[in-house]
Amino acid sequence: MTAPLKVLLLGPGGQVGWELQRSLAPLGEVVAVHRHSGPLCGDLAQPDALAQTVRTVRPDVIVNAAAYTAVDQAEREPELAHAINAVAPGVLAQEAEALGAWLVHYSTDYVFNGQGDRPWTEQDPTGPLNVYGQTKREGEVRIARACPRHLIFRTSWVYAARGGNFAKTMLRLARERDELKVVNDQHGAPTGAELLADATAHALRQVFGTPAGAARTALAGTYHLAASGETTWHGYALAVLAAARQMGVAIRAQQVHPVASGAFPTPAKRPQNSRLSTQKFQAAFGLHLPAWESGVQRMLAEHIASEPPQRMAS
Ligand SMILES: NC(=O)c1ccc[n+]([C@@H]2O[C@H](COP(=O)([O-])OP(=O)(O)OC[C@H]3O[C@@H](n4cnc5c(N)ncnc54)[C@H](OP(=O)(O)O)[C@@H]3O)[C@@H](O)[C@H]2O)c1
Repeated sequence: MTAPLKVLLLGPGGQVGWELQRSLAPLGEVVAVHRHSGPLCGDLAQPDALAQTVRTVRPDVIVNAAAYTAVDQAEREPELAHAINAVAPGVLAQEAEALGAWLVHYSTDYVFNGQGDRPWTEQDPTGPLNVYGQTKREGEVRIARACPRHLIFRTSWVYAARGGNFAKTMLRLARERDELKVVNDQHGAPTGAELLADATAHALRQVFGTPAGAARTALAGTYHLAASGETTWHGYALAVLAAARQMGVAIRAQQVHPVASGAFPTPAKRPQNSRLSTQKFQAAFGLHLPAWESGVQRMLAEHIASEPPQRMAS
């Protein structure tokens, strides 16, 4: 890279945004703007103020980690989900285009209809099953229309060490209960926020390490970015409990029953096939995406190490 980049980071307090603060730092100056960050507005529900923030900061790259991610709640608040997930990314893309900047944005496997058992490629037709997926898809379309210099990373089943996550919930329940029931008809790859943030920084280094012009814009586009391999929520839970046992944690639950999604009805329908083919990303950026188990085990080890010693098995 020739010169340090100026990066405007939106949503720095979320799972991915938090890790991006760390991974983007070596690229240059990172201006992290929260929803309410003093004079700068980072609220995706306020398009005019958001546009003004971009004009004030004048970044080389906008990285948008903010989103309306409450999948079930989105069924009750479709207008707000649309404003944040569809309208705001379009505004960011227009502002990026006006500045000659790049826009990095995250999307989701929920843009697909979940049918079949083949990993989705970037060429596959979309068909979201719920409001969240519809609004995320519209955000993708608005970005692609407004700014050719974009990277849209579709990912799946994101977890982070910070805050709550599925693995920590399974661990807690398995200590409290004799048996658990976990969904086994949804397939995907748990993907760490750390991995997404690191892969984003590596990708940006390559974009800006490439001479400006056609070579650089050839890297623009939509990519599937997730950890390698696949599992179900049930397989995920079993892996978490096996790893925790190996780390010396006393697990009470002797049975983890696989159940169909219908056992836990939710307002928003979930896709059964969330597998994402990441070949395009790995080939374009020359990066290797590790198996999902390695990131989950690392997060778990950190979580368990941070617990008071009396909760460990003797
Ligand atoms: N989580 C997943 O399993 C998953 C799966 C596939 C794709 N993705 C995509 O990956 C990206 C990152 O997700 P994540 O898991 O890091 O999400 P997250 O932890 O829920 O974080 C979302 C962030 O967006 C912020 N936000 C919400 N409404 C906002 C608004 N009006 N203005 C400004 N900020 C707002 C939230 O702030 P507050 O904390 O203040 O609300 C939060 O910091 C998103 O684009 C998401 O759609 C996530």
